[in-house]
Amino acid sequence: MSKLIGILTSGGDTPGLNAALRAIGKTVMGEANYQVIGFMDGFRGLAQNRNIRLNREVLSNIITLGGTILGTSRDKPHKMLVGGKKMDMRDVIVENYEKHQLEALVCIGGGGTHKNAQKLAEKGLNIITLPKTIDNDIEFTDTTIGYDTALGIATSAIDRLHTTAHSHHRIIVVETMGHNVGWLALGAGIAGGADVIIIPEIAYNVEIVAESILARYRNGKRFSIVVVAEGAMSVQERKVLEALIQKKEQAVDEKDVKTAKSDIQAFYESRKDHTINLAHQLESLTNLEARVTILGHLQRGGIPSAADRLLASRLGTSAALEILNKNYGNMIAAKSDQTVPIPISQVAGLKKYVPLGHHWVEAARKLGTCFGDLSLTF
Ligand code: F6P
Repeated sequence: MSKLIGILTSGGDTPGLNAALRAIGKTVMGEANYQVIGFMDGFRGLAQNRNIRLNREVLSNIITLGGTILGTSRDKPHKMLVGGKKMDMRDVIVENYEKHQLEALVCIGGGGTHKNAQKLAEKGLNIITLPKTIDNDIEFTDTTIGYDTALGIATSAIDRLHTTAHSHHRIIVVETMGHNVGWLALGAGIAGGADVIIIPEIAYNVEIVAESILARYRNGKRFSIVVVAEGAMSVQERKVLEALIQKKEQAVDEKDVKTAKSDIQAFYESRKDHTINLAHQLESLTNLEARVTILGHLQRGGIPSAADRLLASRLGTSAALEILNKNYGNMIAAKSDQTVPIPISQVAGLKKYVPLGHHWVEAARKLGTCFGDLSLTF
């Protein structure tokens, strides 16, 4: 009897997921005649045993497709909403895994998926993961599936905003996704020639941003492009958040922890419109007109770039070979022109922030980009 492997996609969708499914499936079928099933909607489908056969026909012609043919969700195996209650579904998942006599399970996802995958590996399942997220915030891998496509979309949006900003002599504030990290804003900001880039790793001072825009104006540049990562924070906001985190860390009992957690949540909710507020502040500090564009889920949609298809194909085929070699418990990372297995236990719980001295940041500063932290001299 041929062996069976399972695959699921979990967390926010990204372009390139289907290319990864195709690469894993075609390689295990071609090299060892394994069969493949895909669980629907991430860990939820695994808990509910909803699956489809990923045969050659299903995997054909999907390399160019965005999204994921399996569907996805942010459900966690150990805390899944079932009948209005949060349930630990890990044992049910193990039963389903055993029912199918799976040889291995491939989980394709971002930070949350790696934590979830580790919890299942601890239950004895043979797990392999692939890093995907438009946020590019997974440690130990050069990049993640989906980042390049999102970078291209955000960059071309900035290109288009340039012409309208220029014609109307306006400040255009563009918000990118990226959760709590700045890779997308930084990459697209540099590639799109942004004048200001604001990322979570560098707390900003709005007066400094306004001054850099006014300095451009004095030099005859009557428009400015400000790229803001969704997780960006002013110096004042950062201080408030740090104090709340400290309160949570110092909490002595469960009640205090709960209060601190809900204060942190309230803090994040209170700054939902922070990009719009920033644009208002810039208008009043500069006396120039500002407009806001929030790129949102556009950045996750549509056809994967060539680089993402290539990355997904490299990582997917390597994951398949790891399965054939029975080498489990690893994330397959991209490292220059190689792929390397990294223990999931090491990846889970880590986040790759933009280092303050990263060469992209240094390059942007040399190009005169303002990060809102240092006054620029013109
Ligand atoms: O992690 C990917 C991401 O697109 C983040 O950049 C963003 O903060 C989040 O997902 C949005 O999630 P959702 O699609 O669930 O609203």
